[in-house]
Amino acid sequence: MSESVDLTLWRNNGARSPAYAALKRGTSGDRARPVDFCVPSNPYFPTPEMFDRLQRNLAETLKHYPGDADTIAEEMCAVFGLNPATVAMGNGSTELITWIDHLMIRESMAVPVPTSGRWTDQPLGTGKRVDMYPLQESQGFRLDIDAYLRFVRDRRSRVAVICNPNNPDGGYLARHEVIRMLDALTDLDLVVVDESFIDFVDAESEPSVADQAAIRPNVIVLKSLGKNIGLHGVRFGYLVANPAIAGRIRRALPKWNLNSMAEAVVFMLKEHMEEYHHSLRMLAHDRTTMTRQLSSLPGLTVFPSQGNFVLVKLPAGKDGVELRDYLAAEHGVLVRECGSKLGTTSRFLRLAVRPHADVQRLLAGLYSYLYGAPGDRDADVLAPRAADASITAGARGRHRRRRASELRARRHARPDQPVHHLGGDTA
Ligand SMILES: Cc1ncc(COP(=O)(O)O)c(C=O)c1O
Repeated sequence: MSESVDLTLWRNNGARSPAYAALKRGTSGDRARPVDFCVPSNPYFPTPEMFDRLQRNLAETLKHYPGDADTIAEEMCAVFGLNPATVAMGNGSTELITWIDHLMIRESMAVPVPTSGRWTDQPLGTGKRVDMYPLQESQGFRLDIDAYLRFVRDRRSRVAVICNPNNPDGGYLARHEVIRMLDALTDLDLVVVDESFIDFVDAESEPSVADQAAIRPNVIVLKSLGKNIGLHGVRFGYLVANPAIAGRIRRALPKWNLNSMAEAVVFMLKEHMEEYHHSLRMLAHDRTTMTRQLSSLPGLTVFPSQGNFVLVKLPAGKDGVELRDYLAAEHGVLVRECGSKLGTTSRFLRLAVRPHADVQRLLAGLYSYLYGAPGDRDADVLAPRAADASITAGARGRHRRRRASELRARRHARPDQPVHHLGGDTA
């Protein structure tokens, strides 16, 4: 393969994914555009027409100061049907997590792990006690609310956080379950429900508890716009809480914390909500297809996700660091290996949901790494076909037998449980 990706970027980044721009700078060759499965975004939004309009107005947008955050937040509230008194907008939800920590987490905080690094590193960095509740791989990383409540009580944590859906596994807790948790924790200083990925949920039609946050004494719901609007680089997000909490955080935020590109995008949204909802439906469809295709790879464990990413576990004896480097170097495919995430190991990969053609490139790379055969075809098609000369007859037979027993196993599996495969580690 003629492209080359600078692999030292990962090593110099503490095993976290390097910035895409840094990777592009360090990439050469004829396939200069790596396919990014690291950073989960929305590939279908903004639409090309929206990008054209943003581009046409770029100079004007960048030359001027933006409006203040209240003006931008008011427009966003009009689009999403929120009361501006209950909203604070930040430079990405990361800025809001930072201020929630500074202002509202005084001594201790509980959070299920694995989770987004911000929810452990930020409070640890400011000297808080972080009570980490271990989600169990054997239960598909599903959060058992009753067990979590017991944990919060046992540890006497003053703040409880959950991410719904959770990053990196995509596990989703139904709205009524989240409300049950809020009801049980009214005496805490604060309960945060990080809904940064909730727009991707299709398990129920109204999954968010933002309406509850607005009227409760101790609840914040957090939303990232970068992920669902598909513009991580713009840096915008918001929180919903009662007017006292939202006002306190608004007052702490720096003036002009939102830039003029964020303003331009927010003021375009109203006219494009239909396309936005369509983009979410397309992504949910891609997630189903990608999950099914990954599940057909023998030995790979795939965890059911409601986010715009899918967590997989490699077969025993395979390591994500080596695979990550191989995929980047040989296939121009970037993946997030989860060795740096508390609660997972480097046998786990978090794969952003991407359109069909990109997934074929990923599957080809995975197939050739895991099984040593060229995999430049749809994984579903990896089931034997007489015309397919690139899989030997023996391999086809093995694959057919594996596939039959997987299907038998799957018929007995509950739909919300991870799909395990023969040869995979079901621990
Ligand atoms: C659960 C969760 N919350 C918040 C964030 C921060 O997102 P943002 O880009 O809006 O700062 C992340 C980032 O991946 C995340 O996974």
